[in-house]
Order: sequence, then structure tokens, then C-alpha cells
Amino acid sequence: MIEFDFTSMCNLDMKYYSKKEEVLNSFNNSYMTGWTKKIDDELVNDIINTANEVKKHSSCLVVIGIGGSFLGSYAVERALAPYFNDNKFNVIYAGTTLSSDYMSELLEYLKNVDFSVNVISKSGTTMEPTIAYTLVKNLMEEKYSKEEIKQRLIITTDPVKGSLREEANSCGYKTFPIPDDIGGRYSIMTAAHLFPLSFNIDISKFIEGYYSGNKYIDSAYNYAVCRKHLFDLGKYVENFVVYEEKLSYFSEWLKQLFGESEGKNNVGIFPTSTVYTRDLHSLGQFIQEGNKIIFETIIKVNEASKIKFKDYDLHNINNIVLDSVRVAHNKGDVHSLMITLPCINEYSLGEVMYFFMLSAAFSGFLFNINPFDQPGVEVYKKEVRENIVI
Ligand code: PA5
Repeated sequence: MIEFDFTSMCNLDMKYYSKKEEVLNSFNNSYMTGWTKKIDDELVNDIINTANEVKKHSSCLVVIGIGGSFLGSYAVERALAPYFNDNKFNVIYAGTTLSSDYMSELLEYLKNVDFSVNVISKSGTTMEPTIAYTLVKNLMEEKYSKEEIKQRLIITTDPVKGSLREEANSCGYKTFPIPDDIGGRYSIMTAAHLFPLSFNIDISKFIEGYYSGNKYIDSAYNYAVCRKHLFDLGKYVENFVVYEEKLSYFSEWLKQLFGESEGKNNVGIFPTSTVYTRDLHSLGQFIQEGNKIIFETIIKVNEASKIKFKDYDLHNINNIVLDSVRVAHNKGDVHSLMITLPCINEYSLGEVMYFFMLSAAFSGFLFNINPFDQPGVEVYKKEVRENIVI
């Protein structure tokens, strides 16, 4: 079970609790909630079977995507991968930046390995993955026949429209859908993330955990209420705190989820993140005594590897420090909300992701904005298009 501790807020007047019915109605009447529906078993089998086929002829999968078509699977993969000596299948991510160093080193590396590609873009028009895909496809065409490319290229995109869908249809490439009623940052339970994840993790446990997250619907609303209340108190920055390096990309996923869902109409909480104890030695001073615009959401982990240090268990030391830092920050007028996972595994990550997605959506409605669009992202894209034609 996930535990929630929002007690640092308990002395506050929670006027937003009375809006619960209204918020839930808005949520239930939204079209973009396809991510609450059960995923099709046939699709899950197709994902697993396709991954098994790829493993037969490839030693590496290049996953090309950005934003909501990247962060979820990367966060889960990083959270579950061993730090050292892992024997996992080589999944490489690309299309998340325009770094020419990264692309040229990747292409050089791919020349000498047998690889497959999964390009993921709901719109099919996003610049970074389009460039990465074009460069990697050129290399595929140098290395492989048309028939081999058909075995090695998997396109995950809109079920009916867009340039990638057209290309897949005309060339007969294998495809997976990103349903119309699921936006990028809410797409963790689609093939956009499940296919890359299926190479190294037991996605059935992840799926099971995800849907069981629905039991936390009340906690998800309470969390949204606490955040809104803190915003009203002038706490405009939420620092997602983890004490496990493995969860650092989980925080990146959270930043996108809340940042893109909430930051519009001149409102919203700015999400940032830290890995403690490391960042206590850099940002800790600011958080303790600097500008009081910050509150923290701590993601605690109950059970981890057992290793002794003197009379203590090292993980126990980590959690004692967590509790102490929480008290210290509270003394510095930095409120904290805490979410405790029993451990880091497929099931608990699925559960907590569903919890956070519900909460981000509820929070959007508490801010009176649409949590499922991101019109502001278009502004910079338009500027770019005026300066370069891809
Ligand atoms: O959450 C979102 O909708 C965005 O972050 C998108 O996922 C991101 O811009 C990538 O879009 P696309 O999948 O269309 O390439």
C-alpha cells in the first residue's frame, strides 16, 4: 500500500474540499481520460510478442520520442534498472535533444550493431524525433533491405492520422496506437511506453499496479487540494524530493506531468526536483532559509536493499535523515507532503503513476484550467518554424 502524509497541512482551512464533486464531474465529463480505461489484453500480448521478435534479430532497440512520448518509459526503466552490471536488453533513447554530438555518436555506434527502431510521436510532426528518425532511418536504409526494415521498424502514433501513420500504411510497417483520447503526458499505459518497457520489465505487474492506483482517488484529490492551498499561501514552487538516485527521472516525469498540465492562464505551481541527500549540499541552504515560495513533495521508499553500517541499516539511515530534514525544513516554513512507496518495483510505480496522473488532472480543474492541453508549447514551435523548415 502507498501511504500518504499530508499532515503538515492539517491545521489549514481546506476550502477546496467542498469542490470535490464539481471537480470529479469535470474530470468524468472530459474526453481526454482514455488513460482511465482498461488496456486491451490483445494489445498487451502484441506488445510482448513484438518485443520477443525484435530480440531475435536485434541486440539493441532505439526508442525515438520526446516529452510525453519519452519520459514515462525512461523514468520507469531508470527506476528499475540495476545500477551496475545489468544484463538488460539494450534500449537506447534518442530524439530528446538536437545534440549533434549525441546523434553522430549514436549513428557511429549503430553501424556496428544489429538494431531495431521504435519511433513514437502522436502528432508525427515533433521536430526533435522527426530529425532523429530521419537520420536513423537513413542508416537503416544503408544497412538493411526493405523487407528487413519492415521487421525492424515499429511506429507508435495516432491510430488514423498524421505523417507517421501515412508512412506506416504505405510501407506496411508494424504500428502501435496512441489513442485519440490520451494526451502525451497521460500516455504511460499505452504502447508508447509499454513497448519500450516490455524489453526489460514485467509489464503485466506494472499494468496491474497502475489500475489498482484507482483506489487512491480520494488521496489524489486531497493531494491536489493541499497543493492548491499551498499555492494560495504563495508557495509557487513544488520541489519533488527523492532519496533514491534511481527515481531522479521519475521526478522528471512528474515535472512534465504537473508543469504542462497546470502552467497556463498565468497560474500553476512551478515543479522542480532534487535528489537528497546530494542536493542538500547545494540547494539545501536555499530551501531552508531562502525565498519562502517553495514547498516539498517527498517520495519516500520503505524497503530497499539491506546493507549494514555499524549498528544501522543504511536504508534506515537514509530514512532517518529524510524525517529529520523534513522537520528542519518545516521549521524553516517549508511545508512538505509525503508519499511513501512500499518499495520500488513495477507494481508500486504503476500505482503511484496513476495516483499522480489523477491528481494532476484534479489539480487542473481546481485551477480552472484544462489539464489536458498545452497551447503554450505551440508558441515556441511557431517561432522555430519561422526560422527553419524541417
Ligand atoms: O504531453 C504532451 O502532450 C507533450 O509533451 C507531447 O508528448 C510531446 O510534445 C511529444 O509530442 P508527440 O508525441 O506528438 O511527438
